[in-house]
Amino acid sequence: MSTTRFLTGITTTGTPHLGNFVGSIRPSVAASLTPGVQSFYFLADYHALIKCEDPVRIQRSTLEIAASWLAAGLNPEKVTFYRQSDIPEIPELTWLLTCVTGKGVLNRAHAYKASVDKNTAAGREQDDGVTAGLFMYPVLMGADILMFKAHKVPVGRDQIQHIEMARDMAASFNHLYGEHFVLPEAAIDDHVATLPGLDGRKMSKSYDNTIPLFSSRAQLQKLIGGILTDSRAPGEAKEVEGSALFQIYQAFATPEETEALRKAYADGIAWGDAKHLLLERVDQVIAPMRAQYEELIHNPARIEQTLLAGAERARALATPFIRELRSAVGLRSLLQASTAAKPAKAAKAALPAFKQYREADGKFYFKLVAADGRLLLQSTGFDAPKEAGQAIAQLQKDSAALQTLAPRLAPVDGVEAAEVTAALQALAEAATA
Ligand code: TRP
Repeated sequence: MSTTRFLTGITTTGTPHLGNFVGSIRPSVAASLTPGVQSFYFLADYHALIKCEDPVRIQRSTLEIAASWLAAGLNPEKVTFYRQSDIPEIPELTWLLTCVTGKGVLNRAHAYKASVDKNTAAGREQDDGVTAGLFMYPVLMGADILMFKAHKVPVGRDQIQHIEMARDMAASFNHLYGEHFVLPEAAIDDHVATLPGLDGRKMSKSYDNTIPLFSSRAQLQKLIGGILTDSRAPGEAKEVEGSALFQIYQAFATPEETEALRKAYADGIAWGDAKHLLLERVDQVIAPMRAQYEELIHNPARIEQTLLAGAERARALATPFIRELRSAVGLRSLLQASTAAKPAKAAKAALPAFKQYREADGKFYFKLVAADGRLLLQSTGFDAPKEAGQAIAQLQKDSAALQTLAPRLAPVDGVEAAEVTAALQALAEAATA
Protein backbone atom coordinates (compact mmCIF):
# COMPACT_ATOMS: atom_id res chain seq x y z
CA MET A 1 0.00 0.00 0.00
CA SER A 2 1.35 3.40 -0.89
CA THR A 3 1.35 5.96 1.86
CA THR A 4 -0.34 9.32 1.61
CA ARG A 5 1.68 12.18 3.00
CA PHE A 6 -0.20 14.84 4.96
CA LEU A 7 1.48 18.10 5.84
CA THR A 8 0.32 21.19 7.63
CA GLY A 9 1.84 24.24 9.28
CA ILE A 10 0.74 26.35 12.21
CA THR A 11 1.81 29.97 12.29
CA THR A 12 3.46 30.81 15.62
CA THR A 13 1.83 34.08 16.51
CA GLY A 14 -0.68 33.20 19.21
CA THR A 15 -1.84 30.99 22.04
CA PRO A 16 -3.89 27.94 21.00
CA HIS A 17 -7.59 28.24 21.84
CA LEU A 18 -10.54 25.85 21.90
CA GLY A 19 -11.32 26.69 18.27
CA ASN A 20 -7.80 25.61 17.21
CA PHE A 21 -8.21 22.43 19.21
CA VAL A 22 -11.53 21.44 17.65
CA GLY A 23 -10.71 22.67 14.15
CA SER A 24 -7.12 21.59 13.77
CA ILE A 25 -5.28 19.95 16.65
CA ARG A 26 -7.79 17.22 17.49
CA PRO A 27 -8.51 16.11 13.88
CA SER A 28 -4.82 16.27 12.97
CA VAL A 29 -3.76 14.14 15.91
CA ALA A 30 -6.51 11.65 15.02
CA ALA A 31 -5.47 11.62 11.35
CA SER A 32 -1.84 11.03 12.30
CA LEU A 33 -2.87 7.71 13.85
CA THR A 34 -4.54 6.46 10.64
CA PRO A 35 -2.70 3.56 9.01
CA GLY A 36 -1.18 4.30 5.61
CA VAL A 37 -0.69 7.96 6.45
CA GLN A 38 2.57 9.75 6.96
CA SER A 39 2.22 13.14 8.65
CA PHE A 40 4.36 16.23 8.74
CA TYR A 41 3.35 18.94 11.20
CA PHE A 42 5.45 22.00 11.66
CA LEU A 43 5.60 25.34 13.42
CA ALA A 44 5.57 27.96 10.70
CA ASP A 45 7.77 30.51 12.43
CA TYR A 46 9.14 32.06 9.22
CA HIS A 47 5.52 32.79 8.34
CA ALA A 48 5.05 34.31 11.79
CA LEU A 49 7.60 37.02 10.99
CA ILE A 50 5.26 38.31 8.30
CA LYS A 51 2.62 39.36 10.81
CA CYS A 52 4.47 39.68 14.08
CA GLU A 53 7.47 41.79 14.97
CA ASP A 54 7.60 40.80 18.61
CA PRO A 55 10.42 38.27 19.16
CA VAL A 56 9.25 37.33 22.66
CA ARG A 57 5.78 36.56 21.40
CA ILE A 58 7.07 34.40 18.55
CA GLN A 59 9.25 32.38 20.87
CA ARG A 60 6.48 32.03 23.46
CA SER A 61 3.94 31.04 20.83
CA THR A 62 6.30 28.41 19.44
CA LEU A 63 6.63 26.92 22.91
CA GLU A 64 2.88 27.03 23.59
CA ILE A 65 1.85 25.55 20.27
CA ALA A 66 4.42 22.77 20.46
CA ALA A 67 3.37 21.95 24.04
CA SER A 68 -0.32 22.00 23.03
CA TRP A 69 0.12 19.55 20.16
CA LEU A 70 2.21 17.19 22.25
CA ALA A 71 -0.20 17.40 25.18
CA ALA A 72 -3.07 16.67 22.80
CA GLY A 73 -1.43 13.37 21.94
CA LEU A 74 0.76 14.04 18.94
CA ASN A 75 3.39 11.33 18.90
CA PRO A 76 6.67 12.80 17.63
CA GLU A 77 7.99 9.28 17.03
CA LYS A 78 5.25 8.65 14.52
CA VAL A 79 4.83 12.12 13.05
CA THR A 80 7.56 14.35 11.70
CA PHE A 81 7.10 17.35 13.99
CA TYR A 82 9.50 20.22 13.42
CA ARG A 83 10.08 23.94 13.39
CA GLN A 84 10.24 25.51 9.93
CA SER A 85 13.24 27.70 10.74
CA ASP A 86 15.31 24.63 11.64
CA ILE A 87 15.16 23.59 7.97
CA PRO A 88 17.44 25.92 5.97
CA GLU A 89 16.49 24.03 2.82
CA ILE A 90 13.05 25.67 2.98
CA PRO A 91 14.19 29.26 2.34
CA GLU A 92 16.52 27.86 -0.27
CA LEU A 93 13.65 26.16 -2.06
CA THR A 94 11.63 29.34 -1.68
CA TRP A 95 14.11 31.05 -3.97
CA LEU A 96 14.00 28.31 -6.59
CA LEU A 97 10.21 28.55 -6.59
CA THR A 98 10.28 32.35 -6.63
CA CYS A 99 12.02 32.09 -9.98
CA VAL A 100 9.22 30.01 -11.54
CA THR A 101 6.34 31.97 -10.03
CA GLY A 102 4.71 34.74 -12.04
CA LYS A 103 4.60 38.02 -10.20
CA GLY A 104 1.09 38.45 -11.55
CA VAL A 105 0.05 35.25 -9.79
CA LEU A 106 1.17 36.71 -6.46
CA ASN A 107 -0.62 39.97 -7.25
CA ARG A 108 -3.84 37.97 -7.18
CA ALA A 109 -3.25 36.26 -3.82
CA HIS A 110 -6.22 36.97 -1.53
CA ALA A 111 -4.21 38.21 1.46
CA TYR A 112 -2.15 40.60 -0.63
CA LYS A 113 -5.18 41.77 -2.60
CA ALA A 114 -7.06 42.44 0.62
CA SER A 115 -4.26 44.77 1.77
CA VAL A 116 -4.25 46.54 -1.57
CA ASP A 117 -8.04 46.92 -1.53
CA LYS A 118 -7.90 48.34 1.98
CA ASN A 119 -5.28 50.88 0.96
CA THR A 120 -7.21 51.82 -2.15
CA ALA A 121 -10.41 52.30 -0.18
CA ALA A 122 -8.56 54.53 2.28
CA GLY A 123 -7.09 56.59 -0.55
CA ARG A 124 -3.55 55.43 0.19
CA GLU A 125 -0.87 54.22 -2.19
CA GLN A 126 -1.79 50.60 -3.01
CA ASP A 127 1.25 48.93 -1.43
CA ASP A 128 1.34 51.18 1.61
CA GLY A 129 2.63 49.19 4.60
CA VAL A 130 2.77 45.95 2.59
CA THR A 131 6.05 44.09 3.06
CA ALA A 132 7.61 41.94 0.39
CA GLY A 133 7.24 39.16 2.98
CA LEU A 134 3.46 39.38 2.80
CA PHE A 135 3.65 39.41 -0.97
CA MET A 136 5.90 36.33 -0.99
CA TYR A 137 3.88 34.42 1.62
CA PRO A 138 2.46 31.91 -0.90
CA VAL A 139 5.91 31.01 -2.22
CA LEU A 140 7.26 30.26 1.24
CA MET A 141 4.18 28.15 1.85
CA GLY A 142 4.71 26.41 -1.48
CA ALA A 143 8.24 25.52 -0.40
CA ASP A 144 6.92 24.06 2.89
CA ILE A 145 4.58 21.79 1.00
CA LEU A 146 6.66 20.82 -2.02
CA MET A 147 9.79 20.12 0.01
CA PHE A 148 8.19 17.06 1.59
CA LYS A 149 6.22 15.93 -1.46
CA ALA A 150 2.95 16.24 0.45
CA HIS A 151 -0.12 14.81 -1.28
CA LYS A 152 -2.70 16.30 1.05
CA VAL A 153 -2.64 19.56 2.93
CA PRO A 154 -5.32 19.91 5.62
CA VAL A 155 -6.15 23.59 5.82
CA GLY A 156 -9.05 25.95 6.31
CA ARG A 157 -10.98 27.19 3.30
CA ASP A 158 -9.14 30.51 3.41
CA GLN A 159 -5.95 28.64 2.47
CA ILE A 160 -7.19 26.80 -0.63
CA GLN A 161 -5.80 29.40 -3.00
CA HIS A 162 -2.34 28.93 -1.48
CA ILE A 163 -2.45 25.19 -2.15
CA GLU A 164 -3.50 25.86 -5.74
CA MET A 165 -0.58 28.21 -6.12
CA ALA A 166 1.77 25.56 -4.74
CA ARG A 167 0.40 23.15 -7.33
CA ASP A 168 1.03 25.67 -10.09
CA MET A 169 4.59 26.26 -8.86
CA ALA A 170 5.22 22.51 -8.83
CA ALA A 171 3.79 22.13 -12.33
CA SER A 172 5.85 25.01 -13.71
CA PHE A 173 9.02 23.67 -12.15
CA ASN A 174 8.33 20.14 -13.39
CA HIS A 175 7.69 21.49 -16.88
CA LEU A 176 11.00 23.28 -16.92
CA TYR A 177 13.28 20.88 -15.12
CA GLY A 178 11.65 17.45 -15.12
CA GLU A 179 9.36 15.67 -12.68
CA HIS A 180 10.67 16.54 -9.25
CA PHE A 181 7.61 17.66 -7.32
CA VAL A 182 4.38 16.00 -6.27
CA LEU A 183 1.32 18.14 -7.00
CA PRO A 184 -0.40 18.73 -3.64
CA GLU A 185 -4.11 18.99 -2.93
CA ALA A 186 -6.01 20.79 -0.20
CA ALA A 187 -7.83 18.49 2.23
CA ILE A 188 -10.88 20.22 3.64
CA ASP A 189 -12.76 18.38 6.35
CA ASP A 190 -16.37 19.50 6.26
CA HIS A 191 -17.23 17.55 9.39
CA VAL A 192 -14.91 19.59 11.52
CA ALA A 193 -16.81 22.27 13.37
CA THR A 194 -15.93 25.93 13.30
CA LEU A 195 -16.26 26.93 16.91
CA PRO A 196 -18.04 30.15 17.84
CA GLY A 197 -16.28 32.40 20.31
CA LEU A 198 -17.53 34.20 23.41
CA ASP A 199 -19.50 36.70 21.33
CA GLY A 200 -20.97 34.14 18.91
CA ARG A 201 -18.72 35.06 15.98
CA LYS A 202 -16.12 32.54 14.83
CA MET A 203 -13.59 31.96 17.62
CA SER A 204 -10.54 33.87 16.48
CA LYS A 205 -7.69 35.80 17.94
CA SER A 206 -8.54 38.71 15.66
CA TYR A 207 -11.99 39.03 17.27
CA ASP A 208 -10.54 38.76 20.77
CA ASN A 209 -13.28 36.28 21.67
CA THR A 210 -11.26 33.15 22.37
CA ILE A 211 -11.05 30.67 25.21
CA PRO A 212 -7.41 29.59 25.54
CA LEU A 213 -7.11 25.82 25.29
CA PHE A 214 -5.09 25.53 28.47
CA SER A 215 -6.77 27.99 30.73
CA SER A 216 -6.85 26.96 34.38
CA ARG A 217 -10.19 25.60 35.49
CA ALA A 218 -10.93 28.86 37.28
CA GLN A 219 -10.15 30.87 34.13
CA LEU A 220 -12.23 28.49 32.07
CA GLN A 221 -15.14 29.00 34.42
CA LYS A 222 -14.82 32.76 34.19
CA LEU A 223 -14.63 32.76 30.39
CA ILE A 224 -17.52 30.35 29.95
CA GLY A 225 -19.52 32.59 32.28
CA GLY A 226 -18.98 35.36 29.76
CA ILE A 227 -20.38 33.52 26.72
CA LEU A 228 -23.09 35.61 25.15
CA THR A 229 -26.63 34.27 25.69
CA ASP A 230 -30.06 35.80 25.25
CA SER A 231 -32.14 37.11 28.12
CA ARG A 232 -34.56 34.21 28.49
CA ALA A 233 -35.32 33.44 32.11
CA PRO A 234 -35.03 30.02 33.78
CA GLY A 235 -38.04 27.91 32.82
CA GLU A 236 -38.39 29.57 29.42
CA ALA A 237 -37.64 27.32 26.43
CA LYS A 238 -34.36 28.19 24.69
CA GLU A 239 -33.13 27.97 21.12
CA VAL A 240 -30.14 25.77 20.30
CA GLU A 241 -29.99 27.42 16.90
CA GLY A 242 -27.37 30.16 17.04
CA SER A 243 -26.44 29.37 20.64
CA ALA A 244 -22.64 29.58 20.96
CA LEU A 245 -22.86 27.73 24.26
CA PHE A 246 -24.68 24.83 22.62
CA GLN A 247 -22.27 24.63 19.71
CA ILE A 248 -19.22 24.56 21.93
CA TYR A 249 -20.83 21.87 24.06
CA GLN A 250 -21.58 19.82 20.97
CA ALA A 251 -17.92 19.93 19.91
CA PHE A 252 -16.87 18.29 23.17
CA ALA A 253 -19.78 16.01 23.99
CA THR A 254 -21.05 12.69 22.64
CA PRO A 255 -24.17 12.75 20.40
CA GLU A 256 -26.25 11.43 23.33
CA GLU A 257 -25.05 14.16 25.64
CA THR A 258 -25.76 16.73 22.96
CA GLU A 259 -29.30 15.40 22.58
CA ALA A 260 -29.78 15.63 26.34
CA LEU A 261 -28.73 19.28 26.31
CA ARG A 262 -31.01 19.99 23.35
CA LYS A 263 -33.87 18.64 25.42
CA ALA A 264 -32.79 20.64 28.46
CA TYR A 265 -32.87 23.77 26.28
CA ALA A 266 -36.44 22.99 25.24
CA ASP A 267 -37.32 22.36 28.87
CA GLY A 268 -36.05 25.79 29.86
CA ILE A 269 -32.69 25.08 31.52
CA ALA A 270 -31.29 28.21 33.22
CA TRP A 271 -28.30 29.75 31.43
CA GLY A 272 -26.23 29.44 34.57
CA ASP A 273 -26.87 25.69 34.71
CA ALA A 274 -26.12 25.26 31.01
CA LYS A 275 -22.83 27.06 31.50
CA HIS A 276 -22.03 24.81 34.37
CA LEU A 277 -22.64 21.73 32.20
CA LEU A 278 -20.39 23.18 29.52
CA LEU A 279 -17.61 23.89 32.01
CA GLU A 280 -17.72 20.32 33.32
CA ARG A 281 -17.78 18.78 29.85
CA VAL A 282 -14.92 20.86 28.45
CA ASP A 283 -12.87 20.42 31.57
CA GLN A 284 -13.34 16.66 31.42
CA VAL A 285 -11.63 16.66 28.01
CA ILE A 286 -8.99 19.26 28.80
CA ALA A 287 -7.97 18.37 32.35
CA PRO A 288 -5.82 15.32 31.52
CA MET A 289 -4.09 17.21 28.72
CA ARG A 290 -3.68 20.26 30.95
CA ALA A 291 -1.46 18.35 33.34
CA GLN A 292 0.70 17.25 30.43
CA TYR A 293 0.77 20.76 29.06
CA GLU A 294 1.87 22.28 32.35
CA GLU A 295 4.66 19.78 32.60
CA LEU A 296 5.84 20.44 29.06
CA ILE A 297 5.63 24.19 29.21
CA HIS A 298 7.87 24.20 32.26
CA ASN A 299 10.34 22.00 30.50
CA PRO A 300 11.30 23.88 27.33
CA ALA A 301 14.50 21.86 27.06
CA ARG A 302 12.47 18.76 26.37
CA ILE A 303 10.41 20.46 23.68
CA GLU A 304 13.51 21.95 22.13
CA GLN A 305 15.00 18.49 21.96
CA THR A 306 11.85 17.04 20.42
CA LEU A 307 11.79 19.75 17.77
CA LEU A 308 15.48 19.32 16.94
CA ALA A 309 14.99 15.57 16.61
CA GLY A 310 12.07 16.29 14.27
CA ALA A 311 14.18 18.69 12.24
CA GLU A 312 16.83 16.04 11.88
CA ARG A 313 14.28 13.63 10.42
CA ALA A 314 12.88 16.30 8.15
CA ARG A 315 16.33 17.26 6.94
CA ALA A 316 17.16 13.67 6.16
CA LEU A 317 14.62 14.17 3.36
CA ALA A 318 15.20 17.84 2.63
CA THR A 319 18.97 17.83 2.28
CA PRO A 320 19.24 15.25 -0.51
CA PHE A 321 16.14 16.67 -2.21
CA ILE A 322 17.45 20.23 -2.35
CA ARG A 323 20.70 18.84 -3.75
CA GLU A 324 18.71 17.14 -6.50
CA LEU A 325 16.79 20.36 -7.19
CA ARG A 326 19.90 22.53 -7.23
CA SER A 327 21.47 20.19 -9.72
CA ALA A 328 18.31 20.17 -11.84
CA VAL A 329 18.35 23.94 -12.25
CA GLY A 330 22.10 24.06 -12.93
CA LEU A 331 23.48 25.01 -9.52
CA ARG A 332 26.04 22.24 -9.52
CA SER A 333 29.68 21.37 -9.51
CA LEU A 334 31.61 22.22 -12.61
CA LEU A 335 32.89 18.68 -12.57
CA GLN A 336 29.43 17.19 -12.84
CA ALA A 337 28.67 15.95 -16.36
CA SER A 338 26.05 18.26 -17.82
CA THR A 339 23.13 15.97 -18.42
CA ALA A 340 20.02 18.04 -18.02
CA ALA A 341 17.97 20.33 -20.23
CA LYS A 342 17.36 17.74 -22.90
CA PRO A 343 16.22 19.75 -25.90
CA ALA A 344 12.80 18.08 -26.04
CA LYS A 345 12.18 19.00 -22.45
CA ALA A 346 13.40 22.52 -23.02
CA ALA A 347 11.09 23.01 -25.98
CA LYS A 348 8.14 21.68 -24.03
CA ALA A 349 9.13 23.85 -21.12
CA ALA A 350 8.38 27.04 -22.96
CA LEU A 351 4.77 26.06 -23.56
CA PRO A 352 1.83 27.67 -21.86
CA ALA A 353 -0.78 25.40 -20.29
CA PHE A 354 -4.53 25.29 -19.77
CA LYS A 355 -5.79 24.67 -16.26
CA GLN A 356 -9.31 23.71 -15.28
CA TYR A 357 -10.76 24.21 -11.85
CA ARG A 358 -13.93 24.75 -9.91
CA GLU A 359 -14.65 27.84 -7.85
CA ALA A 360 -16.64 28.29 -4.66
CA ASP A 361 -19.61 29.45 -6.78
CA GLY A 362 -19.86 25.85 -8.06
CA LYS A 363 -19.02 26.82 -11.63
CA PHE A 364 -16.25 25.45 -13.80
CA TYR A 365 -13.47 27.69 -15.06
CA PHE A 366 -10.33 27.45 -17.06
CA LYS A 367 -7.33 29.64 -17.51
CA LEU A 368 -4.34 29.73 -19.78
CA VAL A 369 -1.09 30.20 -17.93
CA ALA A 370 2.23 31.08 -19.56
CA ALA A 371 5.26 28.88 -18.88
CA ASP A 372 6.45 31.48 -16.38
CA GLY A 373 3.13 31.24 -14.52
CA ARG A 374 1.66 34.48 -15.81
CA LEU A 375 -2.07 34.45 -16.43
CA LEU A 376 -2.88 34.92 -20.14
CA LEU A 377 -6.52 34.04 -20.41
CA GLN A 378 -9.32 33.60 -17.92
CA SER A 379 -12.72 32.13 -18.62
CA THR A 380 -16.03 33.05 -17.05
CA GLY A 381 -17.91 30.31 -15.18
CA PHE A 382 -19.36 27.32 -17.06
CA ASP A 383 -22.17 25.23 -15.65
CA ALA A 384 -20.58 21.93 -16.67
CA PRO A 385 -16.94 20.82 -16.79
CA LYS A 386 -17.60 19.45 -20.28
CA GLU A 387 -18.44 22.91 -21.63
CA ALA A 388 -15.19 24.29 -20.24
CA GLY A 389 -13.32 21.33 -21.75
CA GLN A 390 -14.88 21.92 -25.16
CA ALA A 391 -13.93 25.58 -25.09
CA ILE A 392 -10.34 24.61 -24.30
CA ALA A 393 -10.32 22.08 -27.14
CA GLN A 394 -11.49 24.75 -29.60
CA LEU A 395 -8.84 27.18 -28.45
CA GLN A 396 -6.14 24.53 -28.63
CA LYS A 397 -7.08 23.69 -32.20
CA ASP A 398 -7.30 27.18 -33.58
CA SER A 399 -6.52 30.54 -32.03
CA ALA A 400 -9.34 32.04 -34.13
CA ALA A 401 -11.70 30.51 -31.57
CA LEU A 402 -10.71 33.48 -29.41
CA GLN A 403 -13.22 35.55 -31.35
CA THR A 404 -16.12 33.14 -31.13
CA LEU A 405 -15.46 32.47 -27.46
CA ALA A 406 -14.93 36.10 -26.53
CA PRO A 407 -18.19 36.30 -24.51
CA ARG A 408 -16.97 33.47 -22.28
CA LEU A 409 -13.65 35.09 -21.52
CA ALA A 410 -12.89 37.61 -18.79
CA PRO A 411 -10.40 40.39 -19.43
CA VAL A 412 -6.92 39.98 -17.98
CA ASP A 413 -5.05 43.15 -17.07
CA GLY A 414 -1.85 43.83 -18.93
CA VAL A 415 -2.06 40.99 -21.44
CA GLU A 416 -2.21 41.82 -25.14
CA ALA A 417 -4.30 39.82 -27.56
CA ALA A 418 -1.25 39.14 -29.73
CA GLU A 419 0.45 37.41 -26.85
CA VAL A 420 -2.52 35.14 -26.27
CA THR A 421 -2.72 34.31 -29.96
CA ALA A 422 0.99 33.49 -30.03
CA ALA A 423 0.62 31.23 -27.00
CA LEU A 424 -2.27 29.36 -28.61
CA GLN A 425 -0.37 28.99 -31.86
CA ALA A 426 2.61 27.57 -29.98
CA LEU A 427 0.31 25.03 -28.36
CA ALA A 428 -1.29 24.08 -31.67
CA GLU A 429 2.13 23.65 -33.29
CA ALA A 430 3.42 21.52 -30.43
CA ALA A 431 0.36 19.28 -30.77
CA THR A 432 1.00 18.62 -34.46
CA ALA A 433 4.80 18.42 -34.20
N1 TRP B 1 -0.63 29.72 6.04
C1 TRP B 1 -1.06 28.73 6.99
C2 TRP B 1 -2.10 29.36 7.92
O1 TRP B 1 -2.07 30.55 8.14
C3 TRP B 1 0.10 28.19 7.79
C4 TRP B 1 1.06 27.47 6.91
C5 TRP B 1 2.33 27.84 6.59
C6 TRP B 1 0.79 26.24 6.26
N2 TRP B 1 2.88 26.93 5.76
C7 TRP B 1 1.99 25.94 5.52
C8 TRP B 1 -0.31 25.39 6.19
C9 TRP B 1 2.06 24.79 4.73
C10 TRP B 1 -0.23 24.25 5.40
C11 TRP B 1 0.95 23.95 4.68
O2 TRP B 1 -2.95 28.66 8.40
